[in-house]
Amino acid sequence: MNETPIKPCLILGIESSCDETAAAVVADGRRILSNIVATQVDVHQVYGGVVPEIASRMHVEAILPVIDQALKQADVALKDIDAIAVTHGPGLVGALLVGLSAAKGLAAVAHKPLIGVHHIAGHMAANYLADKSWDPPYLCLVVSGAHSHLVVVNDYEQFNVIARTRDDAAGEAFDKIARAIGLGYPGGPLLEKAALGGNPHALTFPQTNFADSLDFSFSGLKTAALNQLNRLKQQVELSGEDWTTIVSLRDFAASYQQAIIDVLVARAILAAQTHHMKRLAVAGGVSANRCLRDNLAASAQQAGIEFLCPPLEFCTDNAAMIASAGYYAFENGTNDTFDLNATATLELA
Ligand code: KG4
Ligand code: ZN
Repeated sequence: MNETPIKPCLILGIESSCDETAAAVVADGRRILSNIVATQVDVHQVYGGVVPEIASRMHVEAILPVIDQALKQADVALKDIDAIAVTHGPGLVGALLVGLSAAKGLAAVAHKPLIGVHHIAGHMAANYLADKSWDPPYLCLVVSGAHSHLVVVNDYEQFNVIARTRDDAAGEAFDKIARAIGLGYPGGPLLEKAALGGNPHALTFPQTNFADSLDFSFSGLKTAALNQLNRLKQQVELSGEDWTTIVSLRDFAASYQQAIIDVLVARAILAAQTHHMKRLAVAGGVSANRCLRDNLAASAQQAGIEFLCPPLEFCTDNAAMIASAGYYAFENGTNDTFDLNATATLELA
């Protein structure tokens, strides 16, 4: 007797919260059929950072071709899709609105459920794409351009944020100093590259710890690095030489990078121990940093904690992670209405 194969649940994911226009088709929340990302990095590079108005306009140009390509590469038609998941916040409102409007339009014409996904829930779902058997509960260190969170993921849609940054996010800490030392945008990957082969202990930077909280704070570290940089510049002012003749660029970058990583790693391991979590994952753009990944892996192993880190392409913004998070929301019965709006600041519920 021939058994009819069970049709997988197909989610079309759409992401446009910052400077990547992305669409993906994911089966059963775990299997990627397509994952298209159109990046705007080259354009924003000229301005040294993301220009919101330009980002919105570029999303408008890219969104439909990117969605089309995602469907084609997955070899599915819109009618085969079970639901459309889209990032509705947090992010740049004008940028978010482009993806959201496209998702609403497609959901309306094809009579498909619409599912709004929190961008950070998406980043955390990248772990489900990386390891098919990874599931809650676990602790997640979220480190992106705007967030530094420690989240206890109790279930696919149940999050307990146990720590957050009180000022700058880890990604911002990378980006701001990268700009100050002349590396430009995007700061994180450029600073990582500049730090290669550098001495991570050439300079020391202060860490901010709170006695009664696992919260992060990176503004003191950033200010200390700026002060250090100014001191170095003053020392060479009369000679007309470059400050890097005193401390090399790679030693400066390596020391600063290590200072950020030391805080992230120590706090993540302490949080896992305090909250009795035996499994740790990482999410967000900064988790693409090789040094952070290696340091976390080593410290987790030493502490007897299982550690998962998504492949690089799932760490930065993409739509496969949005489709995966959307799948679990869909399974839980989420079906947003067309009133769903783009929101610049959105708490992780
Ligand atoms: O998650 P993401 O792609 O976008 C947001 O949701 O914010 O994260 C972007 C952030 C930027 O601050 C970028 O500099 C940082 O992630 N980033 C890195 C690396 N790759 C991206 N930071 C350090 N090292 C990297 N290799
Ligand atoms: Zn992101």
